[in-house]
Amino acid sequence: MTEQKLKELLQDMTLEEKVNQMLQVAGGFFTGDMMAMGPMAEKGFTEENVSKAGSALGALGAEKLKKIQKEFMEKHPHKVPLLFMLDVINGLKTVFPVPLGQGATFEPELSERCAQVAAKEAAVSGLHVTFSPMVDLVRDARWGRVMESTGEDPYLNSLFSAAMVRGYQGEDLREPYHVAACVKHFAGYGAPTAGRDYNTVELSRHTFKEFYLPAYQAGIDAGAALVMTSFNTVDGVPATGNRWLMRDVLRGEMGFDGVLISDWAAIEEIIYHGYCADRKEAAVRAVQAGVDIDMMTGIYSENLCNLVRDGKVSEALVDEAVYRILELKNKLGLFENPYKDADEEKEKEVILCSAHRELAREAARKSFVLLKNDGALPLVKGKKVAYLGPYVENRNMMGSWSIVGEAKDVTTLKEAVMEREEGKDAVFGPGCTLLGGEMKLEGFTETMEEEPSAQECQVMLEEAVELAKGADMVVLALGEHRLQSGEATSNATIQIPKVQMELLRKVCAVNGNVAVVLFSGRPLDIREISEKAQAVLQVWMPGTEGARAIMDVLSGDYNPSGKLPMSFPYCVGQVPVHYNEYSTGRPHVEGKDKDRFRSKYLDIPNEPLYPFGYGKSYTRFAISPVEMDKERMKKGETLQASVNVKNVGDVAGTETLQMYIRDIAASVVRPVKELKGFRKVTLEPGQEEKVCFEIGDRQLRFLTENDRWESEPGEFEVFVGADSSTVNGAKFWLE
Ligand code: GLC
Repeated sequence: MTEQKLKELLQDMTLEEKVNQMLQVAGGFFTGDMMAMGPMAEKGFTEENVSKAGSALGALGAEKLKKIQKEFMEKHPHKVPLLFMLDVINGLKTVFPVPLGQGATFEPELSERCAQVAAKEAAVSGLHVTFSPMVDLVRDARWGRVMESTGEDPYLNSLFSAAMVRGYQGEDLREPYHVAACVKHFAGYGAPTAGRDYNTVELSRHTFKEFYLPAYQAGIDAGAALVMTSFNTVDGVPATGNRWLMRDVLRGEMGFDGVLISDWAAIEEIIYHGYCADRKEAAVRAVQAGVDIDMMTGIYSENLCNLVRDGKVSEALVDEAVYRILELKNKLGLFENPYKDADEEKEKEVILCSAHRELAREAARKSFVLLKNDGALPLVKGKKVAYLGPYVENRNMMGSWSIVGEAKDVTTLKEAVMEREEGKDAVFGPGCTLLGGEMKLEGFTETMEEEPSAQECQVMLEEAVELAKGADMVVLALGEHRLQSGEATSNATIQIPKVQMELLRKVCAVNGNVAVVLFSGRPLDIREISEKAQAVLQVWMPGTEGARAIMDVLSGDYNPSGKLPMSFPYCVGQVPVHYNEYSTGRPHVEGKDKDRFRSKYLDIPNEPLYPFGYGKSYTRFAISPVEMDKERMKKGETLQASVNVKNVGDVAGTETLQMYIRDIAASVVRPVKELKGFRKVTLEPGQEEKVCFEIGDRQLRFLTENDRWESEPGEFEVFVGADSSTVNGAKFWLE
């Protein structure tokens, strides 16, 4: 539809029609699973309003959505089609590693391909929008939603944010198999006080803009069609009613002109924050902040018509919101084809096809981080291996947002072993359950497995210990239940369940060759695991093909290459811990300064157990000292920092060279290191390569005391190494 026609459509619509375009309802209202009556009617979900809603979330399936769309448009006065939206976070049916695992690949291009596949499976299933990428910067492993982020670094997160938006949207949303991306949660949701979900966010404006906003900006610059508001307050004002944040910053400074959708019930929640006296005031605040779509509260439908008629809200605010919604539908081509890519035949053809599974397996392999290896890995062929632990036969390793991915489509670790030659030397035993009855968890669609009796658990444990005794080595598959990370899963203790720690201790007491395969959606306190096991492979929540990918790595067919996108703390007392911290006036260097009055703990080190960017390989790489092609440059010039990297081990492998910069003195203090570039290099044994990083004004810019992104002359240090703890550096000056 032309812009002119779109404007005419807007003008033709009644106020009620326009206001209800701003309503998003659960798909259940159209499938008969939810009724617009009783409590729902009191919330503004009347038959009348729902019949004119602008969008629906949570419904899925080509046949179902085509039917809903057809019936809906037949009743709509202006035949305006619905938008269908869903959380496709790490894949639809073919499930990829959770985003924190994808961050560990240090390969945004790979995530772009994963997003393309997710978009294709979503589009043929009738969807138009995904509530992804989540680009909240995270530093606190107590917050379960770190699982949905790509980590603690603004630069890395920005690359992944843009890559995922490109993957979902392609060049043109009208083209087949693309869906609109929704950058979330705007803004600063990843910094809840004490790591408690939905809690208050207290950030200086400087930190907020310098660390937390860049990844949203990258997604917007990549063309994200939507942004979602966050549940938290920013400077004491709930984001969803925050005019400064949404109009001055998001739309003004950051240039976002797409659709702003609230998070689930977030418009109603600005009442509970204590920001609005009632639902009417919440409607005013949210529409004045520029929130276009009200997700599942009915507050707009219930109040905006009267507020406009009473002169309390300008109709122009409604018109601008509705026009953005109509524009999005137009960009998707829904006025010409309201069913877009929904296609039952295509669904059967593409969903979980072998190409998609192969990509999921590649992404999983590359997401794994080898944290420790005293030679236990890779497995030695012909040796008897006991595969023990609750993840040996647990089928669901897709992460808690995989509401559409089905466990039946996932291979277990035992199945992955048995389809390989390693199967003939393998024995298996769960050893214990995932949770040991320690807690009850809730999923979107599933109920918790029943706990076996104490007697049965004892037998499981004893059997596992016997298997460990009789084996040359043990692969111990442990970790979080998939529902232990994700939304509303804050934990004050970031350890695996006690029952699994007991299994670890008993197995390690009888077998001195134990490799732990660790499943989690977040960094954990793994001091004891690291101490007792001879190898630790972090596999996150690896998705549909995770188990096969694990065997690719354990067998040595694939040499692990992942790097931590988020620090693994020494213990929870250290949290929030992140590599790009400020020096403080009393920096402490372990083992160096004896001064008592330094910024340090009495009982633990300052350093995390495993730092950002860390990850081992089955081979070893030698990295030469940093060489500079010159030491001084003027604004507008560039200089090069280079190293030679050599594979000095026995097998081919991939190293991720990371380039960090420190601005020694600036008008606002600078982090001790900031990631400004990285390069993945694959080398055969004995092979070496020169890796050069070009540095210019762009890498030196920061938010100065003038509140502008600019560089300042002075002394800098550049580091190039295999993780953020590298001291392999050289100085240079900007004149
Ligand atoms: C949830 C989440 C958000 C998600 C939305 C729709 O509460 O905060 O990430 O996209 O609701 O499911």
